[in-house]
Amino acid sequence: MRIPGLIDPHVHMREPGGAHKEDWASGTAAALAGGFTQVLAMPNTDPPVVDRATLMGAEARAAQSARCDYALYLGAGADNLSDTAALADEVAGLKLYLDQTYGPLRLDALSLWRAHFDAWPKARPLVAHAEGRTLAAAILMAALVDRPLHLAHVATREEILLVRAAKERGFKITCEVTPHHLFLTQNDLEGGWGEVRPRLGTQADVAALWANLDVIDCFATDHAPHTAAEKASPEPPPGFPGLETALPLLLTAVHEGRLTMADLLDRMDENIRRIFRVPTQPETWVEVDLEAEHTLTAQGLFSKAGWTPFEGWQVRGAVQKVVLRGETVYEDGQVLAQPGFGQRIRAQ
Ligand code: DOR
Ligand code: ZN
Repeated sequence: MRIPGLIDPHVHMREPGGAHKEDWASGTAAALAGGFTQVLAMPNTDPPVVDRATLMGAEARAAQSARCDYALYLGAGADNLSDTAALADEVAGLKLYLDQTYGPLRLDALSLWRAHFDAWPKARPLVAHAEGRTLAAAILMAALVDRPLHLAHVATREEILLVRAAKERGFKITCEVTPHHLFLTQNDLEGGWGEVRPRLGTQADVAALWANLDVIDCFATDHAPHTAAEKASPEPPPGFPGLETALPLLLTAVHEGRLTMADLLDRMDENIRRIFRVPTQPETWVEVDLEAEHTLTAQGLFSKAGWTPFEGWQVRGAVQKVVLRGETVYEDGQVLAQPGFGQRIRAQ
C-alpha cells in the first residue's frame, strides 16, 4: 500500500553537542527507515537553540547532514523574549519547557510564560512540554491570551481528559501522543531503560489514551536517543528512540482494529501539516507492506541509540520503500539518500 511521506513533529537530533547519541545523518536515516520524510527537531541541544546564532549553528549541521526534510524549533528561555518573534518564520515553532526534563531549557516563572505566550505570533506553532498540573496551567494561559497551543506528549488519563474538556470549551488546544505512551506501561521496563519524560503511565492511563483517540491530533515519536551505556548507567538520562518503531507499532494497531488507516494518516500527516504549517512534498510517498510480520529489535536500526524499548515485540506492517521528491531514498532495508539531500522546510 502507498501512503504519504509521514511527518514527525517531535524529534531530538542531538547535534550539536550530543552526536554520539545521534547526529543529523543517523537520525534522519532512522526517520526514512521509519517512513518519515519530514521531521521537526527540538531545541534542547548543546548549546540549546535559543537565538539567531545558535539557530544558524544548528541549521548549518542539519543542512549538511540531513537526509530528509526538516525544521528546527526555537527554545523559549529567560533571556530571549525579544528575539523570538523575528525568527518565527524560520523555525518549526517555539518550544516551552515548563517541566524538568533533559537539557537546561526550563521556564519556571509564570511571568515568563506569559511574556512568551504574548510575544510569539498567534499564527505560528507554540508547543509546550507540560505535565499534570502544569498542563492545566498552560491550557488556562492559552485560553486567557486566546491563542493556539500544542501540547507535547500527553501521557496520562487526567491529562487527556483535560485536553478533551478544553477542546469542548472551544479552546485552541491541539495535542500529540507518543507510541511509547500508547503501548508501554511503567511495569514494562526496568530501571534506567524505563526513564522517560513524561513517565510511562499505568494500564488505566494507556486505556484512557486509546479511549480518547478522537481528541489526539497527532502521533509524535519524541525520538530521544541516548546510548545503551548511558541508559544502563547510575544516572540514566530520560528518553527513548522511536523513529523506526512507530509505524510498525501503529500499523499493528490498525491490523488489530484499534484504529483505522485513516485515523493513522490523519495523525501522522494531515493534522500535522495543518497545525505546524508543513508543506506538501511533490512526488513523495511510502510503500508499506501491511501483512509483513516481524520482530522489533535493535539490530539493524539506523539510530545511534543502539537499543529500543520494544525489543522482541511482534509487529505486523513494514516500510518497504520511501520516495522523496522523486528519488528512492529507502528500499529493502537500505537508506539511499545521502547526507545533505534533506531540505529545510521553513524560509531561509
Ligand atoms: O524523555 C525525554 N527525553 N523527555 C524530554 O522531554 C526530553 C527528552 C530528551 O531530550 O532526551
Ligand atoms: Zn521531546
